[in-house]
Amino acid sequence: MPTQRFLITGGSQGIGAAIVTHARKAGHQVVFTGRKEAQIKRVAADTGAHGITADVAVDADNARTVDACVKHMGGVDVLINNAGVGYSADMGALDVNAMRALFATNVFGGVDLTNRIVPLMKAQGHGDIVNLASTSGMKGAKGGTAYAGSKWAVRGITQCWQAELRPHGIRVICICPSEVQTNWMGKTGRNNPNKLYADDIAATILAGLDMPRRVLWPELAVFANNPWKED
Ligand SMILES: NC(=O)c1ccc[n+]([C@@H]2O[C@H](COP(=O)([O-])OP(=O)(O)OC[C@H]3O[C@@H](n4cnc5c(N)ncnc54)[C@H](OP(=O)(O)O)[C@@H]3O)[C@@H](O)[C@H]2O)c1
Repeated sequence: MPTQRFLITGGSQGIGAAIVTHARKAGHQVVFTGRKEAQIKRVAADTGAHGITADVAVDADNARTVDACVKHMGGVDVLINNAGVGYSADMGALDVNAMRALFATNVFGGVDLTNRIVPLMKAQGHGDIVNLASTSGMKGAKGGTAYAGSKWAVRGITQCWQAELRPHGIRVICICPSEVQTNWMGKTGRNNPNKLYADDIAATILAGLDMPRRVLWPELAVFANNPWKED
């Protein structure tokens, strides 16, 4: 793949930081976002990517993010909608405002940012958009009203964007990872070599983007092959 201009949301840790690292190692230009300034600075220093403090749930921050991409890279070829948060609650105990806040990041944030980037991609006649959903968005589960609901929404929205954007040369790819051993929801220290790492998801995304432009992988579920093995 020739050098591309990446915008990655939620690049300050986990899967997003791994995508920043893989994209930079492949020689691409990268702008990434997050809310925690110290972690953003660390990833930026480690990778040479341009990190900005921006909350994807805030429309004005998304406007600023697009401006930063135009200023630092002259535009965007690849948008990775990765920023996401979790919240689990059974019905009867669900805090609907917590669910609204989750949707503001997991669903409306990516929609608002993409709504701002698509005109640039249409004007240049190409682009790639990668949406991070989850296997939680493929099968409902106890406590999953908010999180699984948001990831089902991301999958459905992805299909709408594919229908709209394929004729403009823009590919939209949905990635649905199973459990990945990041610090997701405070789960630190997981290191089972048989379970997925953030690097596995980054490598999968780069592989999808690396396909010839006539090829579209509309949706990829990514599982660990044998996660039950303990060593
Ligand atoms: N880990 C898993 O098992 C798993 C499985 C399937 C799908 N996923 C999905 O993969 C994506 C990344 O997950 P992860 O495991 O890497 O999680 P993570 O380690 O918690 O990282 C999440 C990233 O998103 C950023 N973020 C969260 N809210 C944001 C907001 N409003 N604006 C900007 N950045 C925001 C965080 O940065 P700040 O804290 O600095 O804002 C952080 O960089 C998420 O969409 C998640 O739903 C994860």
